[in-house]
Amino acid sequence: MSQPVVVAEKLSRHYEVKGGLFSKSGVVRAVSETSFRLEAGRTLAVVGESGCGKSTLARLITMIEEPSSGRFYIDGEEITPANWARHRADVQIVFQNPYGSLNPRQRIGAALEEPLKINRPQMSAAERESRAREMLQLVGLRPEHYDRYPHMFSGGQRQRIAVARALMLEPRVLVLDEPVSALDLSIQSQILNLLVDLQERMGLAYLFISHDLSVVKHMADDIIVMYLGRPVEIGPKDQVFANPRHPYTRALLSATPVADPRARKQRIKLQGELPSPLNVPPGCAFAPRCWKASDKCRAERPELDGGAHQAACFFPEG
Ligand SMILES: Nc1ncnc2c1ncn2[C@@H]1O[C@H](COP(=O)(O)OP(=O)(O)OP(=O)(O)O)[C@@H](O)[C@H]1O
Ligand SMILES: [Mg+2]
Repeated sequence: MSQPVVVAEKLSRHYEVKGGLFSKSGVVRAVSETSFRLEAGRTLAVVGESGCGKSTLARLITMIEEPSSGRFYIDGEEITPANWARHRADVQIVFQNPYGSLNPRQRIGAALEEPLKINRPQMSAAERESRAREMLQLVGLRPEHYDRYPHMFSGGQRQRIAVARALMLEPRVLVLDEPVSALDLSIQSQILNLLVDLQERMGLAYLFISHDLSVVKHMADDIIVMYLGRPVEIGPKDQVFANPRHPYTRALLSATPVADPRARKQRIKLQGELPSPLNVPPGCAFAPRCWKASDKCRAERPELDGGAHQAACFFPEG
């Protein structure tokens, strides 16, 4: 096994929130004790319901925010306040809505060159321009798009620009936070194919966040399933899809028939609402909604267990 590009060890991010007129103050446990490894050329997908901490995890790995606790490593080197700036370019992010990240008054060429201006001061203007034009071509746009403004592009093209911009500093890791969710279905597959192609060419590692399990099935090598800020299952994609071990994963997959059209699984309807991360239930956080939960589940939190395909459950499936 090659050395992982990213290793996360028990990363947590908790937010103190002040109470208001209608809310109590407290601690939002957005991400708790999340560990994973990500190798070059591989895709780790992060799935789970809205609010389970996917984007927070993305911000930690992209060094937009510091973890409250835990460690993480890039190419074997622990990220610390001392070396953080040096590693920042190694991990780049692409968001769901590329319009938000592009300045409408800035030409595409300038937008692509901005990261170089900041991070590669030794590069000449001509070098920056030729890199930007090359990058446009690499993501399936044309060099003459260099002089155009964001509004002159379609959603799919804008997402290509966002990918191009993320690649300007030759990162090792791309964090893709719902990168195709805002696009038409027909455009989605073009962008996904582009990402697959770029990964092969450049050996990029992807942390791929999506709520769409058919997209995840297409893209992922490994999957991490989050529930209320914690991983409840992690393993190779094929195993997780074929034999989900955590009841929550089973319920999640049963809600997506496209995930496996042959297996006409019965849809599992979860009881109750997703609790707030301000108020994480004791024991297994999924217990209040789980059809298998016992007193033990409500009192004690199960750890991830089980070799390459792990689940945090006292009564795993299969
Ligand atoms: N800066 C913050 N202050 C307080 N709470 C926060 C902050 N950022 C995120 N949260 C909370 O942390 C939890 C996780 O949020 P996050 O955005 O990571 O979820 P997500 O899985 O990306 O959801 P979605 O699928 O809707 O994008 C949410 O309950 C959110 O309200
Ligand atoms: Mg999110």
